Amino acid sequence: MKENVVSKRIPSPERLEQLRKRIVSKRDPNKLTVSICTMSVCGQSRGSRDVCARFREEISRAGLEDKVDIKETGCQGFCEREPVVIIFPEGIYYVNVKPDDVPEIISTTIIKGRPVERLLYADPVTGEKQARESDISFYRNQMRIVFGNNRYINPTDIDDYIALGGYAALSKALSQMTPEQVLDEVKKSGLRGRGGGGFPTGVKWETTRNAPGEPKYVIVNCDEGDPGAYMDRSLMEGNPHSVLEGLVIGAFAIGSHEGFIYVRQEYPIAYENTIQAIRQAKEYGFLGEDILGSGFDFEVEVHRGAGAFVSGESTALMSAIEGRVGEPKMKYIHTAVSGIKGRPSCLNNVETWANVPLIINKGAKWFNSIGTEGSKGTKIFSLVGKVNNTGLVEVPMGMTLRQLVYDIGGGIPKGKKFKAVQTGGPSGGVIPEQHLDTPIDFDELTKLGSMMGSGGMVVMDEDTCMVDTARYFVSFCCEESCGKCIPCREGLRMLREILTDICQGKGRQGDIEAIEDIAKAMQDASLCALGTTAANPALTTLKYFRDEYEAHIKEKRCPAKACKALTSYYIDPEKCAACMICFRNCPTEAIHGGKGIVHWIEQEKCIKCNTCFDVCPPRFSAVRKISGERVPPPPAPGTKVISGKGR
Ligand SMILES: Cc1cc2nc3c(=O)[nH]c(=O)nc-3n(C[C@H](O)[C@H](O)[C@H](O)COP(=O)(O)O)c2cc1C
Repeated sequence: MKENVVSKRIPSPERLEQLRKRIVSKRDPNKLTVSICTMSVCGQSRGSRDVCARFREEISRAGLEDKVDIKETGCQGFCEREPVVIIFPEGIYYVNVKPDDVPEIISTTIIKGRPVERLLYADPVTGEKQARESDISFYRNQMRIVFGNNRYINPTDIDDYIALGGYAALSKALSQMTPEQVLDEVKKSGLRGRGGGGFPTGVKWETTRNAPGEPKYVIVNCDEGDPGAYMDRSLMEGNPHSVLEGLVIGAFAIGSHEGFIYVRQEYPIAYENTIQAIRQAKEYGFLGEDILGSGFDFEVEVHRGAGAFVSGESTALMSAIEGRVGEPKMKYIHTAVSGIKGRPSCLNNVETWANVPLIINKGAKWFNSIGTEGSKGTKIFSLVGKVNNTGLVEVPMGMTLRQLVYDIGGGIPKGKKFKAVQTGGPSGGVIPEQHLDTPIDFDELTKLGSMMGSGGMVVMDEDTCMVDTARYFVSFCCEESCGKCIPCREGLRMLREILTDICQGKGRQGDIEAIEDIAKAMQDASLCALGTTAANPALTTLKYFRDEYEAHIKEKRCPAKACKALTSYYIDPEKCAACMICFRNCPTEAIHGGKGIVHWIEQEKCIKCNTCFDVCPPRFSAVRKISGERVPPPPAPGTKVISGKGR
């Protein structure tokens, strides 16, 4: 018997608009919606699925199914406060929610319309509780045009995307514009690639379009191997249709009928949500043959990366798609002209593609009005490190680093001083305090010796050693270098060795000059941008913090007291109250003393874990951390605590 299958295929732009209206009309904008990030690694790892399950249970128990919807979403940005629960339409915002908090949220907020004070976000500076998402400084100062829809969309439900105007840009491009007009609009928008280099997107599209050879390929780069960066993962997990829509529009402009989405192996949810999005887009006819009745055909395939940082580089990524080892090749000709199988191939980053529907919907002029002269639109950053509010933030280009770190990031925890911010991932550079008022812009960051990169932003405080920071990033690149070219492979090994020696107190005269020479050779002669940029962290830390290098080498002193080999701990006998706290917490039993007896640290046993320093009550502050100084001799055995010292 023949099955009666109702096709979901949308044959024309008019029918898409009808469908959108139908979906919207079935949804009551005033109905309470509990939005929970269960479709992202950040939410899941903090227990959001248990919170969501408890909501379903309690809502059912209270018979509120008709009054309350639950929206399972991707990442909403404020990852460190997950599980986050937002109750729309008001936008009541709860942080660090546990399953046992759910009954109270239902009885107080959902039934009585009042916030649960203890679950609200407290401003790290003023301590003031902020009830609504729109009140919270972390969000208030952002401009979330690309990332903001994550909180309204269940990424596995294409109707959610369509309800918000999804695929309208594709419909417009296919029905009202020629490929040349689409290309022109993207060129005029000033969109530059968000994957690192900041290359003008429209120019790259045009190159591929004009390059001889068929077929032409379009590719999404979701490799994202930078430590600390997860913007692309969160977009692919939370709003895969926005990337897919951008890709199909790009394919139409370029004249491509085949595409690839390259998702790194370690991104299982991004992979699953992408597969699901492709399946649904095919069902609705946004992919496949005769898209929206336009006569344009386009197919896409997902390729899983093998988890190497270098595989994100364009030639390496294309080799991997061809089934070869993901290693870079010499770029005599741009991949836009000769990429996959020697055919013209346009590779763009996830965020770049996700900007495209916005440009087509709202126009180049609108896009152009956001940002700076040379950098248009917004940029998503993963703001991490020593900053109060960590998470994903989207800001207009031109916002200063200071606004990002202080107004959005809430400043530095524990009242510490800001020292530097590393932008651009492992091959970016550190930017010190004197440049905090620099506007975030591709060219401004490059002028400072750093770069925009894909959007990693690591904030460092006064306790961070700049030599050790350079050593960390250089070591990362050293591990990740494919080893194919000597300047990168050997240069990074040599840099790592010198920097490690300096951090261990074995630095020698001439090390700084050696770093500069090796960096120059790597910049001049490496095969790909991994090698040409990998010395940036060393060069920028040298540029802005040369005195720290000199202190390590000449005085065997780490000014930040972070390098273990150059740091020692002792207990000030004048301040020690013999409270036994450090004594009990020392993992190697290196602390001696007793009740009423001044404590002291046996240097040979001390592993410099900082525990004694951390646990010593601030009212005593007896544990001293020193570098470049001799440790005073311990007190005579049995020395008593000075009388009158309170416990
Ligand atoms: C070592 C290395 C790793 C890279 N990793 C990525 C990546 O993970 N994602 C990305 O979009 N671009 C990455 N790039 C940049 C790509 O080579 C390419 O320039 C980019 O995907 C182009 O897209 P865009 O023009 O939209 O920025 C990397 C480059 C290098 C040298």
